[in-house]
Amino acid sequence: MYAVYAHSIEKYEPLKGLGTGAQPEPAELAARPGWTTVAVRAAALNHHDLWSLQGVGLPGERLPMILGCDGAGVDEDGNEVVIHAVVGEHGRGVPEGERATILTERYPGTFAERVAVPRWNLLPKPAALSFEEAACLPTAWLTAYRMLFTRSGLRPGDTVLVQGAGGGVATALIVLARAAGFRVWATSRSEQKRERVVALGAHQAFESGTRLPERVDAVMETVGAATWAHSVASVREEGTIVISGATSGPNPPAALTRVFFHQLKVVGSTMGSRDELAALLRFCETSGVRPVIDSILSLRTEAETGFAKMAAGDLFGKIVFTL
Ligand SMILES: NC(=O)c1ccc[n+]([C@@H]2O[C@H](COP(=O)([O-])OP(=O)(O)OC[C@H]3O[C@@H](n4cnc5c(N)ncnc54)[C@H](OP(=O)(O)O)[C@@H]3O)[C@@H](O)[C@H]2O)c1
Repeated sequence: MYAVYAHSIEKYEPLKGLGTGAQPEPAELAARPGWTTVAVRAAALNHHDLWSLQGVGLPGERLPMILGCDGAGVDEDGNEVVIHAVVGEHGRGVPEGERATILTERYPGTFAERVAVPRWNLLPKPAALSFEEAACLPTAWLTAYRMLFTRSGLRPGDTVLVQGAGGGVATALIVLARAAGFRVWATSRSEQKRERVVALGAHQAFESGTRLPERVDAVMETVGAATWAHSVASVREEGTIVISGATSGPNPPAALTRVFFHQLKVVGSTMGSRDELAALLRFCETSGVRPVIDSILSLRTEAETGFAKMAAGDLFGKIVFTL
């Protein structure tokens, strides 16, 4: 079957390790008890796929590895489904003692004609969402949902700051936070992206690093080293910084004095559960919220274009591949 995969690990030039072409069908996995195959209709790109090409979470001995955490498609019984990307949550579908991983770390991903997953990982695709929209939800949007609604402690009416506003997780944070009744502020390095996030629903957008009019109740961090000091400076006393990523690097200036003097809470967050994904799907259905899509590209002919756009930071929302 046709697939887009990592064939080598390239720390500094990740796109060199990207392969396109024939890969084996996931027949062996599909034959496991409780597993099934999904014919992929749409699959979204995440920064995680770039990390994989750089060897983060993907050791060389597991290559070649089909990339792609997010997908929506049609199962063996003809049902339209969304795939929960975490394999092995609560031990479901994996050998005893195996820890949960996201697709592409241990099991081949969604950038292929077919992907095998435990049946438990499938959720019905709401009819109101297209395959392209549904494919955006399981990683970036689920991460944003958990950061905001499970980990932050925010209540409607509170003010939230979203750093690095143009990214997949960040645009999800802005749309979800606005729909939930928060006051939404965002930062971006790009003037054009600042205009776009205001059109998307942010109440105000600021250049990265700018002093804010007042301190916020919580900051949503995915940028890491480049924005961390600003996040610590921008949150109110006893406020919260929720962090789920470090795109610009994992070793920020610690700014520890302010963390303890102002009794800040620094809260880590990773992906989300199947239950949270089900709630996110309902949230989209009932609120009318839809994922922000930068571009829809062909997996067969435009995979390299999509990866290059992400590597250059030249995107606003999600890049989706269709089959
Ligand atoms: N823990 C988890 O489960 C989980 C799940 C999903 C994602 N993540 C992580 O979260 C991060 C974001 O993921 P994503 O898929 O949303 O990535 P993405 O779409 O590539 O977005 C990255 C955004 O970060 C901002 N940025 C990058 N470098 C920056 C810098 N030097 N200074 C300021 N801003 C910078 C940019 O915003 P502007 O151009 O607007 O400034 C860019 O749009 C990644 O590191 C990813 O691995 C973690």
